[in-house]
Amino acid sequence: MKPKSKILIIAGSDSSGGAGIQADIKTITSLGSYAMTAVTAVTVQNTTGVKSIITIKPSEISKQIEFTARDIKPSAIKIGMLHSSKVVSAVINSLNKIKIKKIILDPVMVAKGGAKLIDNRAIGILKNKLIKKVTLITPNIPEAEILTNLKIKNTRDMINAANILMELGANNVLVKGGHLNTNVLQNIFVSRKEIKIIKSKRITTKNTHGTGCTLSSAITTFFSCGKSLKKSCELATKYVQNAIGSNLNYGKGQGPINHLNSIEVNNKYK
Ligand SMILES: Nc1ncnc2c1ncn2[C@@H]1O[C@H](COP(=O)(O)OP(=O)(O)OP(=O)(O)O)[C@@H](O)[C@H]1O
Ligand SMILES: [Mg+2]
Repeated sequence: MKPKSKILIIAGSDSSGGAGIQADIKTITSLGSYAMTAVTAVTVQNTTGVKSIITIKPSEISKQIEFTARDIKPSAIKIGMLHSSKVVSAVINSLNKIKIKKIILDPVMVAKGGAKLIDNRAIGILKNKLIKKVTLITPNIPEAEILTNLKIKNTRDMINAANILMELGANNVLVKGGHLNTNVLQNIFVSRKEIKIIKSKRITTKNTHGTGCTLSSAITTFFSCGKSLKKSCELATKYVQNAIGSNLNYGKGQGPINHLNSIEVNNKYK
């Protein structure tokens, strides 16, 4: 097949391959699009946790974005981990220059193992400036709590948080429900027109490393190919659900999910 769209990922590298840029590339590729990258940080991690992080200079991040996008114009952009306020500002600056309309922001703040991935000033400009510039923001529950100062315990709180984010200037919001301990997992999509609760069955497994990165890359891919945002969120939830359902059980900790669940190798390579 030929790729159906071109996506630029701005995010951090996960050496274990289950989350971050690696999850993004696998997702975008497995769903049939072309992936490009601007690496924001290099993490040393495995399924048991994050050992260390080195950050890439903001000017180098901007150069990766602008030099790449000027040559191969992205159909859409997915943004993941931005660790400092200087990086957030540099990314905003570059986005202003390259003028791509479809942008999905996963406001990554804390890794699954609990490591804090972003400083407080970065959270400030992400909230005051960046969320207005993107098409969709996809916080998990702890991130939605930090961004809104709400305590989120149930579906109503999730909807309230999404509405507050809309009041802060977000164009569309998906609050992810992975962190609420319910049997039926709910992702709440809120736009100016509607509220849609996207339900999926919770799978009991420790192997959920990278679900958030995978979900936002899948949304970006579907959206870049012309699906509506709501439909993209529904299809992405289904893709992640199937990826968790066929998880790999690699490693001693929280193992990766199966990004390849959507593809089959062509017979001519067998
Ligand atoms: N146990 C599960 N069963 C089914 N679906 C799940 C499960 N865990 C997560 N998901 C799906 O993955 C999505 C993202 O998960 P979550 O809400 O944990 O995001 P996250 O905290 O950003 O993840 P990450 O830690 O990878 O950044 C959820 O919204 C849900 O659709
Ligand atoms: Mg996340």
